[in-house]
Amino acid sequence: MRLVRQRAEPAQTKPRSFPNASPAEKCEVFQADAFDWLEQAAENSIEAVITDPPYGLIEYSPEELRKKAHGVGGVWRIPPSYDGCQRSPLPRFTVLRKSDLDRLREFFDRLASLLLPALVPGAHVFIATNPLVSGLVYEPFIAAGFEKRAEIVRVVHTLRGGDRPKNAHEEFPDVTVMPKSCWEPWGLFRKPCEGRVQDNLRKWRTGGLRRLSADKPFKDLIYSSPARGEERKIAPHPSLKPQSFMRQLARASLPLGEGVILDPFMGSGSTLAAATACGLRSIGIERAPEFFELAKRAIPKLAALQVAAQGSS
Ligand SMILES: C[S@@+](CC[C@H](N)C(=O)[O-])C[C@H]1O[C@@H](n2cnc3c(N)ncnc32)[C@H](O)[C@@H]1O
Repeated sequence: MRLVRQRAEPAQTKPRSFPNASPAEKCEVFQADAFDWLEQAAENSIEAVITDPPYGLIEYSPEELRKKAHGVGGVWRIPPSYDGCQRSPLPRFTVLRKSDLDRLREFFDRLASLLLPALVPGAHVFIATNPLVSGLVYEPFIAAGFEKRAEIVRVVHTLRGGDRPKNAHEEFPDVTVMPKSCWEPWGLFRKPCEGRVQDNLRKWRTGGLRRLSADKPFKDLIYSSPARGEERKIAPHPSLKPQSFMRQLARASLPLGEGVILDPFMGSGSTLAAATACGLRSIGIERAPEFFELAKRAIPKLAALQVAAQGSS
């Protein structure tokens, strides 16, 4: 694996041809702001995006990360321990104010409009979100010119929702304020193809999704437990996504197994590890120095793990 620790320069942002790359050299990481990097990215240079953005926006700001480290105040709450297990802190998206929502929309406007020229025609974008804010993520992608192709339903039991009214639990014992969340939506977008899908596949190697097998298409419902055990030990990032799930997206994203997958918000590098495990090329960008360093250590270890896919329905 080539690990590049510097801000992106125009020449380095070109994720072009690694014709003789061995599997170990198939990923590149940059410590940079994703928007700065994308502003310099070459046109038509990325074949797929798989990303889990900071859609609360503020939770990964230096100030909120400091509050999280001290366990006091801020958007990160420590969920109650149960089953004898202490869970990791979770960001409270329900505290987002109107101004936060406006910032969220601006963030995704900017992301979508920077991604569009950098992607080749027919490139797919898989973007993690949650049911509270997904509309604010999807709308800007459509407005920028992407086609919404599907929503991948990751069936996962989270700690979100299902609570009784705060400080009035006893008064309203039969009320739940929000449904208990049992799934995570991943928006699936595509940059319009040049001509027919078959033409686009020939020219750009993109436009469709790789099938599971000759008789099984890729499906939009995937069962997936949260990342646990060994994966968490290797990559203790608060938003770590499990390899069993990420490898299914990575494989599907490049229909002919050719091209490069970008994760502009790589965190601990679960997308890059999944791509590497599937023998695919990838590029990751992370702004926070501590997560960037974590990703460099974690990617080869996560990629080497044997994980059983839980599969789609
Ligand atoms: C939701 S996490 C992704 C975690 C990832 N799914 C994993 O499995 O480790 C989002 C990441 O984006 C990073 N980030 C936030 N704003 C960024 C920006 N403008 N440019 C690059 N990285 C950014 C955060 O530091 C955080 O690590």
